[in-house]
Amino acid sequence: PSVMSEELRKLLPPTSETVMTKPFPIRGERTIADCTTPHVIAMVGLPARGKTFISKKLARYLNWIGIATRVFNLGEYRRHATTAYKSHEFFRADNEEAMAIRNRCANQALHDSCEWLLSGQGSIAVFDATNSTRDRRQLIHDIVVKQHGFRLFFVESICDDPQIIEQNILEVKVSSPDYLNMNTELVVRDFLQRIEHYEERYQPIDEVTEAHLSFMKVYNAGKKVVVYNNEGHVESRIVYYLMNIHITPRTIYLTRHGESEYNLSGLIGGDSNLSTRGHQYANALSTFIAQQQIDGLRVWTSWMKRAIQTVADVKAPQERWKALNEIDAGHCEEMTYEQIKEKFPEEFKARDVNKFAYRYPRGESYEDLVARLEPVIMELERQGNVLVVSHQAVLRCLFAYFLDKSADELPYLYVPLHTVIKLTPVAYGCKVEHIKLPIDAVDTHRPKPKIPGDVSEPGLDGLSGELVAPDGVGKVLIVGDDVATATNGNGGRVDVQAHQ
Ligand code: ATP
Ligand code: F6P
Repeated sequence: PSVMSEELRKLLPPTSETVMTKPFPIRGERTIADCTTPHVIAMVGLPARGKTFISKKLARYLNWIGIATRVFNLGEYRRHATTAYKSHEFFRADNEEAMAIRNRCANQALHDSCEWLLSGQGSIAVFDATNSTRDRRQLIHDIVVKQHGFRLFFVESICDDPQIIEQNILEVKVSSPDYLNMNTELVVRDFLQRIEHYEERYQPIDEVTEAHLSFMKVYNAGKKVVVYNNEGHVESRIVYYLMNIHITPRTIYLTRHGESEYNLSGLIGGDSNLSTRGHQYANALSTFIAQQQIDGLRVWTSWMKRAIQTVADVKAPQERWKALNEIDAGHCEEMTYEQIKEKFPEEFKARDVNKFAYRYPRGESYEDLVARLEPVIMELERQGNVLVVSHQAVLRCLFAYFLDKSADELPYLYVPLHTVIKLTPVAYGCKVEHIKLPIDAVDTHRPKPKIPGDVSEPGLDGLSGELVAPDGVGKVLIVGDDVATATNGNGGRVDVQAHQ
């Protein structure tokens, strides 16, 4: 439906195109981006080869770009079906009883993946299992392709680097529910034996005997990639994404620019300078970054003056990205929310009804922003340590990608001024820390009002008040004069959560 109000219609030349909002991509609903045939992505590989890591990360990316994706993890089905796991013996090829359970679970997970796709709730099911024999892959092909007519793409992870494998076991297997309260050394030993049982029967995908399959092979965490029979847009995007990710430890720092003159007067958009406090933040930020001693740091900013001024003193190579510019509010640029409400009441209300999909007249929506930011995410995936200095709406989009937030949560994520968000990859997700530098700033966050179009609800009352990370996640550090003692001594809430 058109969301253009009468008053705006009058402002535009008569021939201009009507601005339409796109249908809201509720999670699970198919959207324009993925109205093609449903896909099953089936993982292949020995244990501890990063299959679950790849599955979860891929699903997070696909959901973020608007393709409803869900992971079906066979390990979870097995744990649900039996608590019989006592040791690697369970995975011996000659353990018939266990093998029957494993086969039943695999069939069930595959069945559920297809049912989920058939129900229309999603477009891509990721079948996260070892799928390490030719027979198993043929069975998957028969069900997914022949029976249902879906597309099937295998992603095989091959790794013969013992250091990576041991590191993987230590990082994720020691804390697995299979090994509750077990000593690390025993876990490593048992897991290596589990791998040996799989190795006895493992058949990597073979181009000759399995020439009818579409697949990609990732060697040693991305050192080499082979793609075979790749077809179509969705698969190409998956291949491209998986070619860009890496597992080298690094940290991403996100921050908004320092408080701007427009922030002080409540105006949105524009290209104003930093306020006095904004300049103080710029100083504090450069000190903070210097103290962190970040190896090979790169700084990315938008093209806006306030972002560039914020990193004036940060000593690191800098790059400017137009794609990091703030959401374009079109006809509403350089107005306050109150002014927008007064001048374009219907527009203002429409944005509150569906903030993700709402596109400002002659401007952008959050959905547009996600599309514009995809190359930024792709490049961030390729990089090491990066400090990104951008804007409220843009950082919400980036934050949502890293934290797997849905389209309806995304436009309301709390990204306050004068706060550095530190993201460190751990296990299958990332650790989040909010580091508030001690310079006050206005609060530009406008929470979702109970009644669309209501501007009476106040935002949070400046950063001198309590900084509450959105839905209590992350770790809030308040950096005072004495950085060393500032982790929770200044009233900051300290909740740590690794996002899986
Ligand atoms: P299992 O079969 O036991 O479920 P898995 O293959 O699913 O094992 P993960 O649990 O995903 O293995 O292992 C996670 C670890 O794998 C992480 O520490 C991650 O850094 C690492 N990893 C991610 N991608 C790769 C890759 N392509 N090759 C090897 N290791 C990887
Ligand atoms: O108010 C600062 C600002 O960065 C504006 O330039 C931008 O329009 C706005 O935040 C985005 O936030 P929201 O989508 O909540 O209006």
